[in-house]
Amino acid sequence: MARTTSRYVCQNCGASYPKWSGKCDACGEWNTLVEEQATESVPKGLGKGQGRKIEFVALSGVSKDAPRRMTGIQEFDRVCGGGLVNGSALLVGGDPGIGKSTLLLQVTCCLAQETRCAYISGEEAVDQVRMRAARLGLVNAPVALAAANNVRDIIASLEAADGPQVAVIDSIQTMYIDTLDSAPGTVAQVRACASELIRVAKKRGITLLIVGHVTKDGQIAGPRVLEHMVDTVLYFEGERGHQFRILRAVKNRFGPTDEIGVFEMGEDGLVEVPNPSELFLADRRRDITGTAVFAGLEGTRPVLVEVQALVAPSPLGTPRRAVVGWDSSRLAMVLAVLEARCGVAIGANDVYLSVAGGLKISEPAADLAVAAALVSSLTGEPVPADAVVFGEIGLSGEIRAVSQTDQRLKEAAKLGFNRALMPQPRRSRGGGSADGLGRVELDHLTDLLPLFQADVPPRPPRGRE
Ligand code: TYD
Ligand code: MG
Repeated sequence: MARTTSRYVCQNCGASYPKWSGKCDACGEWNTLVEEQATESVPKGLGKGQGRKIEFVALSGVSKDAPRRMTGIQEFDRVCGGGLVNGSALLVGGDPGIGKSTLLLQVTCCLAQETRCAYISGEEAVDQVRMRAARLGLVNAPVALAAANNVRDIIASLEAADGPQVAVIDSIQTMYIDTLDSAPGTVAQVRACASELIRVAKKRGITLLIVGHVTKDGQIAGPRVLEHMVDTVLYFEGERGHQFRILRAVKNRFGPTDEIGVFEMGEDGLVEVPNPSELFLADRRRDITGTAVFAGLEGTRPVLVEVQALVAPSPLGTPRRAVVGWDSSRLAMVLAVLEARCGVAIGANDVYLSVAGGLKISEPAADLAVAAALVSSLTGEPVPADAVVFGEIGLSGEIRAVSQTDQRLKEAAKLGFNRALMPQPRRSRGGGSADGLGRVELDHLTDLLPLFQADVPPRPPRGRE
């Protein structure tokens, strides 16, 4: 017989505990445990019923490519891996107000000319969505619009004969299933609603676009509890203060991950930015100290961004390390290598590091650009304005080769750079590449220091034979 017990579920990551505590041990968030009633059914085992033999097939064989719908918004199509796959579920996560509803309204309006699209809003009234559409200049798109929260009703509408082929659920935290006791937005509701909707979508070949808010206070379940259920997870990055919005694929069963789409939030909604490097470098000032242009790679696309560093004497006993857009433990590593292997004394200084434009870089190839920006800020010598920098730094200070060097160099040449400070390639290809860029190949981090003529604090380098 089913037994009802209560348990405490973290609203951030979904971990459940038999007892309440202030902190979730799984994700480290505070005050996120909420009591939920759980029906625990006793496992019954298989019993007597006979199973059916599964038909196995060979690994080789002809499979059709997943049929896709292109939205025509190229930045969005690329992030999805080349359009929306029929019968797939896609989660769009991000902070409130970052532009999820705007993007999905634009996507449905673009698709609506050829496909039956429905936009189901649980957050906004029909009039509000209409007003937004008017603002975006999309009022005439044949999108079916509804304000609804009850998943039972939504499923009935999806299963109707004239039901939509593409449906937006905005947002999953406002939906509820009436047989569950918990409030909308709790982990139990969010999971149950999503799994019911996804089941129907798969059955009927509907493309389901789910909006999930990233929440800070822990009262509502975040989109992370859904990541394993959907086929594709896209997150909006960027600050609301910036006008740039970066959509990143963190999971994709139908395409590559780490692909980014760059948009600009303007008067009439999100506008695509086809060449993000130009945008990220637009505000760059030449010949100032503490900046380096990193030739990075986001998904399949090369992107140039400016890395800025400030090294300033610290009034505090424990100097500050503040990082925006990069990994702070990676910064600590670069600082340690500079100090221990190259004899650059940074210790008693505050260090601030920021990636201009709101992009979050996760590539280790940015190490060398960070090191160049740091050394430049420390010595007061600018990194050559016509140079891009990339390369991974190892713990002994060696500079390691990174992937897709050619693509990075080509993008740099396209944007008018003349030089690249870069690692020695893994193997020499013979013959220069077509980009025409001067290459300054560095073997060890100490090779970087002579490029900054001013005196580097005199301490003998250690650890290098
Ligand atoms: P929205 O899509 O409602 O965010 P979310 O669904 O992620 O919560 O975006 C709202 C923000 O976007 C709001 O701050 C206003 C801004 N915005 C514009 O700047 N221009 C526009 O054309 C639109 C529609 C919104
Ligand atoms: Mg919204």
